[in-house]
Amino acid sequence: MLVSKPIRFTVAIDGPAAAGKGTVAKGLADHFGFSHLDTGLLYRAIAVKALVGEDPITAANELVASDMTSQTLQSPKVARMASKVAVIPQVRAALLAFQENFASQDGGAVLDGRDIGTIICPEAQIKIFITASAEIRAKRRYDELQSKGLETSYDEVLRDVKERDERDMTRKDAPLKPAHDAHILDTSGLSIMASLQKAIDITSTAFVKAMKI
Ligand code: CDP
Repeated sequence: MLVSKPIRFTVAIDGPAAAGKGTVAKGLADHFGFSHLDTGLLYRAIAVKALVGEDPITAANELVASDMTSQTLQSPKVARMASKVAVIPQVRAALLAFQENFASQDGGAVLDGRDIGTIICPEAQIKIFITASAEIRAKRRYDELQSKGLETSYDEVLRDVKERDERDMTRKDAPLKPAHDAHILDTSGLSIMASLQKAIDITSTAFVKAMKI
């Protein structure tokens, strides 16, 4: 297909902890040649600083790209703290402009997080809310952490996932919820590749329409 105009196309992916958002978002970005931003890394990077005593609001205002590459970002302890700093409105406000600019860049963008379709990109051409049962999400995250050599147990991961979901869904500012116009993708009975294929199908239809290909 020949596309001659600059592509402005945003895909917003949201969902609860460990739902497979990251894998689907990255796969979609690779498939369409779009840029990808895992917005959870922003909150995790602030959490790393908060865990060593930094003020989270200052950390959010001073965040730089290299903060998002630390090895420690994936640990359950950091995830837990990320969902605590994510409750603070000033932290969220400090991250807003960066995410909005990323979303509106030429060439297309995929962002994944909790508030992408509702707050960051309410005008996104495609919104997908990815979910699965807490038990399945915990199993996937447990396997992932094991493969990275991070010490944990399935029960601890399940408790963590449920606790974070509860905090993310009940906070006042930008709570986790599907946008009214989001496609709901329940991946409980799907492999990650099947989930990605469904997301590609949903996005392709909208992309062809938006680009008038
Ligand atoms: O990978 P996982 O789904 O477990 O978490 P993540 O996307 O890395 O996000 C970690 C935490 O950051 C979440 O539990 C949320 O509290 C927070 N977060 C948020 O509030 N808004 C976003 N757009 C992304 C993450």
